[in-house]
Amino acid sequence: MGDREIRVLVAEEVRDFLPHVQVPRDVRIEWLPAGAPVPAGDYQGLLPLLSRRVDADVLDRLPQLKVVANHAVGFDNLDLPAIRARGVVASNTPDVLTEATADLTWALILAVTRRIPEAERLARTGQWVWHPTLLLGLQLGGRRLGLLGAGRIGQAVGRRAVPFGMEVTYWDRERQPQFEEEVGARRIASLDEILAGSDVVSIHLQLSEETVGLLGRRELGRMKDGAVLINTARGGIVDEAALCAVLEAGKLRGAGLDVYENEPEIRDCLKRLDNVVLLPHIGSATEDTRRRMFQLAWANLMRGIRGEPLLTPI
Ligand code: DGY
Repeated sequence: MGDREIRVLVAEEVRDFLPHVQVPRDVRIEWLPAGAPVPAGDYQGLLPLLSRRVDADVLDRLPQLKVVANHAVGFDNLDLPAIRARGVVASNTPDVLTEATADLTWALILAVTRRIPEAERLARTGQWVWHPTLLLGLQLGGRRLGLLGAGRIGQAVGRRAVPFGMEVTYWDRERQPQFEEEVGARRIASLDEILAGSDVVSIHLQLSEETVGLLGRRELGRMKDGAVLINTARGGIVDEAALCAVLEAGKLRGAGLDVYENEPEIRDCLKRLDNVVLLPHIGSATEDTRRRMFQLAWANLMRGIRGEPLLTPI
């Protein structure tokens, strides 16, 4: 091992994307499989998946660490106070996954409101005849979309609602005047109010101390009867037991979930319900987007180990 070699730990699961970046001669990659503990060593950079918690315990094993380049836009897996306390910088992967995640959100909206998985299952049985009331769904035109969070992804979801003829409302700490102008979106300051008025509620918030369990039994109970809940953000924002209860009670038309409280576990009550569409956290899973996420995370890693400004610091 050369004296000036810089060792970095990189999630093994992104290995296939390595040909899309340049590895400088003085950088030595060590691959870190998702289930494996972080080894102690003089690593200067860490590129983890969103499923790896990076906390004081991990940082204690990496005394030379300079940068954590998260392979995700969400960074609830990072203990930022602990990272900052050690003078380590951190980055995420915004922008590159916005459109893919918004597309997937709409795939879920359509899948739930038009009952696509149920219909597909029925079609495969061969036991169906055309009937005027077969698998009736919810028409979106003229209905109201309520976005919880109007950051990049929330806004991209809102833009896609226009050609469907939906009214767009959003709940966000800040007003988004450009979004309002472009989409005709209306900000609603109260969570209860947006929940009560929306036919489709779609979550686009970060998971944080403020948002964990934000939609509990009380809030889900405020939703309009027959409304739909979509979550492509983070599972911990919704109290899943409460969601099961309102779905089982028939209050909601259905739910579309890409994320869960305790991934990769999915509650049996959700799996049992026909009107719930379940996906395995694939919001950003297109070839282009995953390649770009890696390229951005890698660029941040390379900058961080050399003490250069990160492209997308947290
Ligand atoms: C993220 O980046 O935070 C998504 O959940 C996965 O791409």
